[in-house]
Amino acid sequence: MSDLDTLLTENRSFPPSEHFRHQALVRDDALHREAERDYEAFWARHARELEWMVPFTDTLDWTPPHARWFHGGRLNVSVNCIDRWVRGPHRNKAAIVWEGEPGDSRVLTYWDLYREVQKFANVLKSLGVRRGDRVGIYLPLIPEAAIAMLACARIGAIHSVVFGGFSPESLRDRMNDAEAKVLITADGGYRRGQVTALKRNADKALEDAPTVKHVVVVQRRPGGMGDESFAQMREGRDHWWHRLMQSAKAECPPEAMDAEDVLFILYTSGTTGKPKGIVHTTGGYLTGVAATTKYVFDLKDDDVFWCTADVGWITGHSYLVYGPLANGTTCVMYEGAPDWPERNRFWEICEKYGVSVFYTAPTAIRAFMKWGEQHPARHDLSRLRLLGTVGEPINPEAWIWYHKVIGGLRCPIVDTWWQTETGAIVISPLPGLTSTKPGSATQPLPGFFATLLDSKANEIGVGGGLLALTRPWPSMLRTIWGDDDRYVQTYFTKWADRPDLYFPGDGAKRDDDGFFWIMGRVDDVLNVAGHRIGTMEVESALVEHPAVAEAAVVGKSHELKGQSIAAFVTLRDGYHQSPALRDELREFVAEKIGAIARPDDVLFSADLPKTRSGKIMRRLLRDIAEGRTLGDTTTLADPSVVASLKDQYEAEES
Ligand code: WTA
Repeated sequence: MSDLDTLLTENRSFPPSEHFRHQALVRDDALHREAERDYEAFWARHARELEWMVPFTDTLDWTPPHARWFHGGRLNVSVNCIDRWVRGPHRNKAAIVWEGEPGDSRVLTYWDLYREVQKFANVLKSLGVRRGDRVGIYLPLIPEAAIAMLACARIGAIHSVVFGGFSPESLRDRMNDAEAKVLITADGGYRRGQVTALKRNADKALEDAPTVKHVVVVQRRPGGMGDESFAQMREGRDHWWHRLMQSAKAECPPEAMDAEDVLFILYTSGTTGKPKGIVHTTGGYLTGVAATTKYVFDLKDDDVFWCTADVGWITGHSYLVYGPLANGTTCVMYEGAPDWPERNRFWEICEKYGVSVFYTAPTAIRAFMKWGEQHPARHDLSRLRLLGTVGEPINPEAWIWYHKVIGGLRCPIVDTWWQTETGAIVISPLPGLTSTKPGSATQPLPGFFATLLDSKANEIGVGGGLLALTRPWPSMLRTIWGDDDRYVQTYFTKWADRPDLYFPGDGAKRDDDGFFWIMGRVDDVLNVAGHRIGTMEVESALVEHPAVAEAAVVGKSHELKGQSIAAFVTLRDGYHQSPALRDELREFVAEKIGAIARPDDVLFSADLPKTRSGKIMRRLLRDIAEGRTLGDTTTLADPSVVASLKDQYEAEES
């Protein structure tokens, strides 16, 4: 593993500058000490920084592997993200500074948000949405996405946001699994100058999603997208957002939600073909994201925070919407691609809005690096004071580039490790305290407890092992929607007789300083450009094609995306391999799941390497895809299969 070698030999260390440390919210280890003394009291103190309608009396009820935090306390997330600020001097502060890809822009103050959210909450009520009902959100990255999420929170409805890049089938499956009553979408959104036809996708999805009774459609541009076909409205079912809002009242009292009531479901990939509906609740989630946003991003009143993630992912939920708004922060939101119309777009936005804290993904940083320094060089980035990354391991070269070219050598970098399931950042530097090392997420934040274990649950001091979280935390997932067994199985059975240990599915190393270096997934989950995709999801999609008899999918390292997808396919009798069929299969997967899952390579094979019991040996396929010498082949039923596959693969690569 050459990546591993670079990480292990990487020993540069970057302490925060005196200047940064001096102004930082956290500059000593008092928080760590507080949390280690009594982590329940630590979290209770942070929960009390929120506004409660009924204070909680119990902090934690932990019956492994099920946790309840602040149960019995009542609060409303939208009140904490909006009303609190409207009552004080932040009333007219910008909450969301939005820019569309074509260059249109809008600023919503906390007061604007206060009115819009309540109006839309009333709209949802008028469509029959009640506390506990599920609402699907399938939107471009426009302010209505945040408004819709917060409006759900206001009335106690559960939102399920589906990334706008997902296919109609993916949307359909998610709506059906959650039994959503209402879907909120738009006529279209912009990406690289093209219109993504969200409403058309939604119509296709809804052909087979019977629980959805109403569709609210945002007109992305006043007057529509200019082409009627983007929004054919079905009488009785479909409603224009702006029409409904015209007559909606601007007061909607918040529901008093139990801390353990569900706030949202967010689907993510696992090792099976069926995405998991990760369930997050109200009080613990908000406590976790509010505290981590504040400490990790060192937020001050005059910061302008830009998290580049889409609301369709957990990063968009926690660090574009809930965490920053719960801190009264000004957030930048940008709809489109970083290279549209030119490769300087992100830096233009940073300059234009005076972004001071910038949070993006390693895959984006690698692309910026490839595009060259001349693009950021055109812009004044001197307002930036802190940078962050998330989604996958960052290679030290990209880290150093980010530090130098974007951060002007003055901005600390927070490499934040966490997951959809953890809800909030778990392992990360504290920018005023930690001496960072390029490629390491460093150490658990105060209140989070991580370690490395071997397969027998023995702790590994220095070296490699499986990452484990040893204590519950407030923003942890509570279950998988409709499938608690899968929750228990997936996350709490890695170590026999230890249902208290959470297994995130990642492997890691720990160095002499106790710093963690996350090495990536140890299960059959891929990380393509920071997005999780299950190998089984792609395999299931492939075998739905009439030509495909069997498919196996593995990840392959990729210069920009971290990993790309390589598919090994055997064909049914009567079908013959051809470049045209290869392209067809790649498109087929993109249509079934979404463009992010499109395999880069498709290799046809007469057979797949299997054990005598019939299990596909993905490990060997990975060796082939990476061009490595093959590992142990002695357990194969027919060793000649992999040898010929390898020859074929190498022939096609060259
Ligand atoms: C990976 C994204 C290394 C990891 C917030 C994890 C990372 C998965 C990092 C979760 C990081 C995320 N360093 N790997 N800083 N951050 N990962 O659910 O494999 O989309 O398990 O959540 O991304 O992806 P998810």
